[in-house]
Amino acid sequence: MSELLITHIGELVTAKGEKPIAPLDVRLEVLKDAAIYVEDGRIVDIGPSEELSKKYREKFTLDVDGRVVIPGFVDPHTHLVYAGCRHEEFLMKLKGASYTEILKRGGGINSTVRSTRAALLDELIELAERRAKEMLAAGTTTIEVKSGYGLDYENEKKILLAARELERKVPQDIVITFLGAHTVPFDYRERREEYIELLKSRMLPDFRSLAEFADIFVEDGAFSPEEARKILKVAKEYGYGIKVHADQLHDLGGGGLAAEFHAISAEHLDFVSDESLEKMAEAGTIGVLLPTSTFFLRVKGSPPVEKFRKYGVPIALATDHNPGTSPYYSMQSAMVMGVFEFGLTPEEAFIAATLNAAFAINRGNISGSIEPGKKADLLILDTHSWVHLFYEPDRNPVEFVIKNGNIVYERGA
Ligand code: NIG
Ligand code: FE
Repeated sequence: MSELLITHIGELVTAKGEKPIAPLDVRLEVLKDAAIYVEDGRIVDIGPSEELSKKYREKFTLDVDGRVVIPGFVDPHTHLVYAGCRHEEFLMKLKGASYTEILKRGGGINSTVRSTRAALLDELIELAERRAKEMLAAGTTTIEVKSGYGLDYENEKKILLAARELERKVPQDIVITFLGAHTVPFDYRERREEYIELLKSRMLPDFRSLAEFADIFVEDGAFSPEEARKILKVAKEYGYGIKVHADQLHDLGGGGLAAEFHAISAEHLDFVSDESLEKMAEAGTIGVLLPTSTFFLRVKGSPPVEKFRKYGVPIALATDHNPGTSPYYSMQSAMVMGVFEFGLTPEEAFIAATLNAAFAINRGNISGSIEPGKKADLLILDTHSWVHLFYEPDRNPVEFVIKNGNIVYERGA
């Protein structure tokens, strides 16, 4: 049996709850001079440091000397498995080319499809591993990973296998999403219907054992709402959890569409309408916001956070890590931009990066908060208040990462 007692926690900070938390219900618990006792990877006890020190006197103890302890970050939206990079496109965008223009010209997603198809399985695993390790140093202990840069049968399968292999290589939990409906690839440009048929009749049925969720990009240049309905209907029949890239650049009713299919989450939502938000609230669909992507794309507009509050749509945050719109690794960056660019409160951003993020990938029962019974996924921050995550926005305070009760990262080690 493995045991760990963490004592003299200056601030133990966590959200709590059995379901996603809507903005107006956001509350953080901040315990001073606390301790946590962990057994076999799970949190067993939380209480005053002095009390637990006596109760578990014999146990292996880590005295954190006043540091802050928070739950490991959960990143519920990444495109982690790809090859190549797009820094040239980035320079073009800085000169004024738009994302949709580049996508329609066969660049954008398709340029990453070309390099990803050319990469071997092992190369993809190694690249993803490097990225996951970068995320670990930033405190991310659970990562959702989407496919979507293969866009044919063999290559989508290769990416899903790479994602599965990744779980064996890194300490994080990996949650896999099939995003074969990212866009119609260049080689199916004149055969759009054929690609949709391939998704429905071969990829979705065959990849169910490799992926827990299915996602689709509903956007000008990707899939229309009508096409999305047909594809999502099949995804649902095969038992995938549903996610939707919705209203990222235009309001196509993507949020509402996600709600129609009782999607676990709708993601991006920079241009989401009131009507869609109302439907999402009713369906219990979480809004996953991606401020680093909005910032990096220099989108004019941002999610109407005040309306998420009004309609009661729970908010999660993610990095959206991908080579085109968001080459970011750090959930702290997503939280900081959530606050400074989108107008979230620090409490909302904290819950969005932990408990609500876990619910957005159906892990809210085991991850995302510090509560007895949950996985001991913990960050030890070398600071005296959690507020420093925002107050010193470009300083990463993560000193130790504990995953399933084991120290898996120590800064400088
Ligand atoms: O989440 N929006 C669609 N997919 C990605 C971008 C993909 C790309 O440009 O490579 C996103 O922003
Ligand atoms: Fe994305």
